Amino acid sequence: MSTPRLIKVLGISGSLRKKSFNTAILRAAQEIAPDGMQIHMRGLEDIPLYNDDLREAGYPAPVLAFRREIADADAVLIATPEYNYSIPGVLKNAIDWASRPPDQPFEGKPVAIMGASPGRLGTARAQYHLRQCFVFLDSLVLNRPEVMVGGAHAVIDDGGRLNDEATRDHVAKLLEALGAWTRRLT
Ligand SMILES: Cc1cc2nc3c(=O)[nH]c(=O)nc-3n(C[C@H](O)[C@H](O)[C@H](O)COP(=O)(O)O)c2cc1C
Repeated sequence: MSTPRLIKVLGISGSLRKKSFNTAILRAAQEIAPDGMQIHMRGLEDIPLYNDDLREAGYPAPVLAFRREIADADAVLIATPEYNYSIPGVLKNAIDWASRPPDQPFEGKPVAIMGASPGRLGTARAQYHLRQCFVFLDSLVLNRPEVMVGGAHAVIDDGGRLNDEATRDHVAKLLEALGAWTRRLT
């Protein structure tokens, strides 16, 4: 039997915070990625604020690199915080940069979403706003399982490790589903 080809996933955390819960669940995803999947993480620190004048003058280098990384990935995994019931500006700003022509890299791209917050709903509201953005971008967002990590402060320790086995299993199921989804689509 032939081994399935390696799936390269770009992991994007929507938080710049050093002790971010969302970066922590992405790190956990990296640790538990199934055989045949590799997750490369990318921060959004270097992405400038969107300005169409800058775009018209030529995409800034970090934006070009970001767009290239999305285009080169087989799939994208986003861990989004929830800010005021929606997506943080940092993440929306990066998506806005990626969304402009030519060769909009999210088009047709398999995408999975997860998120963590100390609150009970675990970013549910932000995740649905994020899904709405990807409708316009024509991305192929995985429906389920939904990974909404509530009470994040109780399952992620001071060292930034997701230490709750049930939550790790849930993330693992999302990764399995993303692998199957990506193989089906590409
Ligand atoms: C501006 C702001 C707005 C927030 N709004 C929400 C919210 O609507 N829902 C929620 O569950 N948590 C909210 N929080 C708390 C975040 O979930 C919490 O700060 C979380 O740790 C952010 O994600 P991170 O740990 O990955 O940085 C908010 C935090 C900030 C700074």
